[in-house]
Amino acid sequence: MKIRPQKALTFDDVLLVPKRSPFRSRKDVSTASRLTNSITLNMPILSANMDTVTESEMAIAMARTGAVGVLHRFMSTEKMVRHVKRVKRAEGFLVDAPYTIGVEANLAQVERTMQYHEVGGLMVVDADGTMVGLVTRRDILLAPDSSASVQSVMTPPDSIITATADVTIDEARALLHQHRLEKLPVVGEDGALVGLITAQDVMQRQGTTNSTKDSRGRLRVGAAIGVQSHDIERAGALLDAGCDFLVLDIAHGHADHCIDMIKALKANHKDVQIVAGNVATREGARELTEAGADAIKVGIGPGSICTTRIVTGFGVPQLTAIMDSYQGIVDTGANIPLIADGGIKTSGDMVKALAAGADTVMIGSMFAGCEEAPGAPVVRDGQKVKIVRGMASLGAAIGRKKAESEEVTPKDGDDDWNKVVPEGVEAVVPYRGNVSEIVYQMVGGLRSGLSYAGAATIAQLHENAEFIEMTAAGVRESNSHDVKRV
Ligand code: XMP
Repeated sequence: MKIRPQKALTFDDVLLVPKRSPFRSRKDVSTASRLTNSITLNMPILSANMDTVTESEMAIAMARTGAVGVLHRFMSTEKMVRHVKRVKRAEGFLVDAPYTIGVEANLAQVERTMQYHEVGGLMVVDADGTMVGLVTRRDILLAPDSSASVQSVMTPPDSIITATADVTIDEARALLHQHRLEKLPVVGEDGALVGLITAQDVMQRQGTTNSTKDSRGRLRVGAAIGVQSHDIERAGALLDAGCDFLVLDIAHGHADHCIDMIKALKANHKDVQIVAGNVATREGARELTEAGADAIKVGIGPGSICTTRIVTGFGVPQLTAIMDSYQGIVDTGANIPLIADGGIKTSGDMVKALAAGADTVMIGSMFAGCEEAPGAPVVRDGQKVKIVRGMASLGAAIGRKKAESEEVTPKDGDDDWNKVVPEGVEAVVPYRGNVSEIVYQMVGGLRSGLSYAGAATIAQLHENAEFIEMTAAGVRESNSHDVKRV
């Protein structure tokens, strides 16, 4: 047994010491940061892979703000793939594998296919994949006979305006406007369908500049996976659907099976970007970096709904965990980014996490009350609230079993919920409206923080940061005090 000599700190133990600032405006600083060395975020925030925080709706909203969402994994692979596809299709200028229907289909099949894919139009193709028509919801809306052939209502090929594969966004916009179209199929030289441009996508792409996009103009999204053998297959399906990065989601990431999983994924998928964790120590961060991770996620027990530290006695206060893990990455010389996961209550906490060595932060509960988080708001004691639950809570364990029953066996093969040992709780959080407003406030706080640090970038914040410890009186003085808040 040994006791580490160092005293461990968390956000409320410290403040950052103000430095001389050259900036005249908060606009003079940049909040852009690395998620991995090949993915940059304009807003350095990830929404957590929790089933009360991130599914496709949250991921779309996050990516539109310039941040990014990580889909939780408590659902079947098929459902997860659908969420990934929903994000990737939400805004891309060119949808490169538009949904199709065979020319033999009837109208009932057309409707079912549209509902399944949640789209308002399908390309009609023959057995060779050549486009022979276009059918939209309008074409089938009032059709009297659902057994009629799609050919009876579709727009025939000679009436369809198409674009070629080299079309620019401005040309597409002009064509859509000139012919008053909603959909513009893109065809190759041989007439085969290669993509689809929609009016909505063109509008959205031109409207949002900060958003987090891939090289094809599609919103970026991450997805959580476990570290069991079936997760290799799941990873393949998610990557095929266009998922931009994978997050290895295990509570104790400094573990043989996590290291093995990083190596297996890297061996199977050449360009895969892997976020590995969670760790809270220099050794943990160093070993996951050496195994080939592209970013390290840090946090054992700081989360608002976590009880790991109470149940197991393990954990490291989050500011120290970030600082130590940062050193572990530096030890390897690999220069990969660090994600501070959990315990962020305010924009000030985020600035402290970034100053301590993080490049981005992951947030759960603060986003769980947002409109875009899964689940509907309810009214409790006259206040609108939403539910948040730890992914290791009993409620999440039961939800997971239901959602994944077709592919995951219950933990230890045991169906008896009395034997589950939860390491998280369920709670209510106030309803908070749209997530973009919270991200705006958080990033506004970060801009001010950078200015106080005399830092133009988050990398400079790391260099300039000087922390000072507070007493309990300092903590009290830091919040509003001796006034009655309205
Ligand atoms: P916040 O504080 O932002 O933290 O709500 C979100 C992070 O908490 C972690 N998490 C858990 N940790 N038991 C734990 O010990 C749980 O049940 C649990 N659920 C989530 C996770 O890292 C998340 O991103």
